[in-house]
Amino acid sequence: MCGIVGYIGEKQAKPILINGLLRLEYRGYDSAGIATIEKTGIKCIKNKGRVAELNNNSNINSLEGTIGIGHTRWATHGKPSSTNSHPHLDNSGNFAVVHNGIIENYADLRDFLKSHNYNFLSETDTEVIPNLIHFYYESSKSNSKNRFLQAVSNACKMLKGSYAIEVLSSYYPDNMVVVRKDSPLVIGKGFNENYISSDIPAILSFTKDFYLLNDNELAFMSRNSIEFYDENIKPIQKQAKNITWDAGSAEKDGYPDFMLKEINEQPKAIRETIGSRIAVNSKSVLPDLEINKTYLKSINKIFIVACGTAMHAGLSAKTIFENLCEIPVEVEAASEFRYRNPIINKKTLCLFITQSGETADTIAALKLAKSKGSKTIAVSNVVGSSISREADFTLYTHAGPEIAVASTKAYTSQIVLLAIIAINFAENLEINKEKSEELKKDILLLPSKIEEVLKNTDKIKNFAQKIYKEKDVFFIGRGIDYTVALEGSLKLKEISYIHSEAYPSGELKHGPIALIENNVTVVSILTNRLLVEKSVSNIQEVVTRGAKTFIVTNQELNHDFDEVIRIPKTNTLISPILSVIPLQILAYYISKEKGLDVDKPRNLAKSVTVE
Ligand code: AGP
Ligand code: GLU
Repeated sequence: MCGIVGYIGEKQAKPILINGLLRLEYRGYDSAGIATIEKTGIKCIKNKGRVAELNNNSNINSLEGTIGIGHTRWATHGKPSSTNSHPHLDNSGNFAVVHNGIIENYADLRDFLKSHNYNFLSETDTEVIPNLIHFYYESSKSNSKNRFLQAVSNACKMLKGSYAIEVLSSYYPDNMVVVRKDSPLVIGKGFNENYISSDIPAILSFTKDFYLLNDNELAFMSRNSIEFYDENIKPIQKQAKNITWDAGSAEKDGYPDFMLKEINEQPKAIRETIGSRIAVNSKSVLPDLEINKTYLKSINKIFIVACGTAMHAGLSAKTIFENLCEIPVEVEAASEFRYRNPIINKKTLCLFITQSGETADTIAALKLAKSKGSKTIAVSNVVGSSISREADFTLYTHAGPEIAVASTKAYTSQIVLLAIIAINFAENLEINKEKSEELKKDILLLPSKIEEVLKNTDKIKNFAQKIYKEKDVFFIGRGIDYTVALEGSLKLKEISYIHSEAYPSGELKHGPIALIENNVTVVSILTNRLLVEKSVSNIQEVVTRGAKTFIVTNQELNHDFDEVIRIPKTNTLISPILSVIPLQILAYYISKEKGLDVDKPRNLAKSVTVE
């Protein structure tokens, strides 16, 4: 996880690095550090805690260099502490490294380096990297710039695992080397200055022109040049990509938190996701998905694979695909899928959903599916993300940068895009034309219906004030409402640290109802007219046992419940897009009532780039 940032130019690096780290903090925030090249050599300042603490460090203003690297950590090896924070230096103090990822064979490498008299100060896996670079640098006789590059490349060949690395060397005070494998890294090109970052939004206010490094590629950088090399130091050419995201979209825009901003951005995000992809009475347009009819007709199974909230979007989409395309769909957590030898062949289509496009398990699952002969489609929000470089087809949600760790607008726009893909498949399969047309109309109405839901949040806020001290909350629903229950429950536990569980309503009597006691809160989602009576009976059963009820519904209910949040009616297939919003808002206000950091919940990071 963790965020890395770098600057090489004519301005002072420190403020730029701090600015970038603050924007990357959603990726990890247990310690932070920066290193710059000063007249006296490399200077490094780091501490446990957040970037703000680093910025208040009494020594930080002594950094005046115009070349530097920075890191905000999500510890994998070695507890958060000043010593374990990045950057890490080699024993001679001539190489400084920041690293995002995990070096799986670090113990062997430590032994190797110890046998060559290197010492280790930290408990991290990372500290082997600067020392290996030093080792290879010293073993070379060359005097050219390639000596630095070659030393980094040789060190990387020894590493097993994942890494995005930035390297400074006091021997090369005007340069920096960066390299990546299975961890994200982008290079932003400026005028007489260049930037490096784990993601695009963090440096979007400085440049809009980006180079994307592929696995095992290195870049040798100066203020006004960037040279790219493959792992054998063979030069390669790269084109910069112009990113059209507006820099302001990565700011809070007057909202107290990114999460609240992103919840409120959902109408806009969904308008962007729909774009010109669907219109009533005309065929869907998905130029990035050239799947031919004969192939589609041969498909007998679809796997949807993702993690966390993205997987919940997949669970909702299962119903849409099965309904419109009449192909069985299996939804699975990427971390399970990749290790269980799933049955995949040429008749299996695999769809991967990932907001960041960087989730390690999802990328590994895609590689596995591809190796077994399946076609792969990625649904992502980040243009040029790692998954887009692996998948056969990538479709983007265009929801704009999502910064809060708790995913909101990505989830709703993922379901919209998946519904559009399902419509596109049904059109190609020449089935369910009427259903598809209806769904299109309903999708087009979604943004204004979401605006309606967002206007009425007072009741939700009041309910949050009543229940924020609770220890357990249960979420129930049937069918597609159950998939929303799962998402509501995840949102609540992520940002409020309240234990919560989601069950299919009909499962309650098979065990979970034993947990219901006086005053416990049960949140129910009820959007399917055909299931309303059965679901109301389930809610009555928990009320009888003393539960408080919070109901999200678009149905008429002739019963008295503690709180009923009405949402507009829509096609059941896309109802999660409306019914999830009150649950996002409930989790948000509970977290606020508890005085927690909504955007940066404990132990979590936005992109899970390690297994
Ligand atoms: C969402 O609130 C979570 N923080 C998390 O479950 C997230 O959805 C998951 O890690 C997947 O991320 P991705 O979409 O970037 O792959
Ligand atoms: N494995 C490294 C560490 O524990 C880097 C972790 C990260 O990517 O934040 O320090």
